[in-house]
Amino acid sequence: MIVAPSVLSADFSILASEIKAIDEGGADWIHLDIMDGMFVPNITFGAPVIKSLRKCTEKTFDAHLMIEAPDRYIKDFADAGCDFITVHEEACTHLHRTVSLIKEYGKKAGVSLNPATSLETVREILPYVDMVLIMSVNPGFGGQKFIPTIYDKISRLKKMTEELNPELIIQVDGGVNNQNINDLKNAGCSCVVAGSYVFGCDDYKKAINSLKI
Ligand code: DX5
Ligand code: ZN
Repeated sequence: MIVAPSVLSADFSILASEIKAIDEGGADWIHLDIMDGMFVPNITFGAPVIKSLRKCTEKTFDAHLMIEAPDRYIKDFADAGCDFITVHEEACTHLHRTVSLIKEYGKKAGVSLNPATSLETVREILPYVDMVLIMSVNPGFGGQKFIPTIYDKISRLKKMTEELNPELIIQVDGGVNNQNINDLKNAGCSCVVAGSYVFGCDDYKKAINSLKI
């Protein structure tokens, strides 16, 4: 299981040391939640902050763009040092074009689905992406409750990938903790994002380890 702590739940006044702490605590990737106040009802940070944070760690930067018309900013996030760039299917009119743009910058491409969005919306793009991010909460905030019908959605996606893209990473984001990690793995999830669970623990290393199954 790839474990990607989300800095959304970190203390932003000491972001550099929070990132160092999860790096030393064994985080595989660093998950960066970008919100524009339009696609989701919240605003976080953008490419200039990521560029500064890039100096703090060598770990994979996993950018989750919860923004409208993401094509406008793909270059900025690529130049800032993101390794994975994930866009929302619901925010892209020409998803294949957006994914191609991410690839043109030499980055890994991900597509994310809100809880109520059907898997059929990504069937045609599966051969072109490196990752599908299944949201297990409605995006916008950390600390929300996990939606349990997501297990079945993960299993169905796993089946689709066997035919269309066996290498695809299935990432799950929202309400992940040590109580649901086993069921997530059994359903076919290969990467989890965890914000409040990791940063809410006094011992980040212990929290991260409990998800590495
Ligand atoms: C939600 C974000 C998540 C969030 C997860 O919109 O995409 O990455 O940080 O937070 P937790 O793990 O607290 O649900
Ligand atoms: Zn996220």
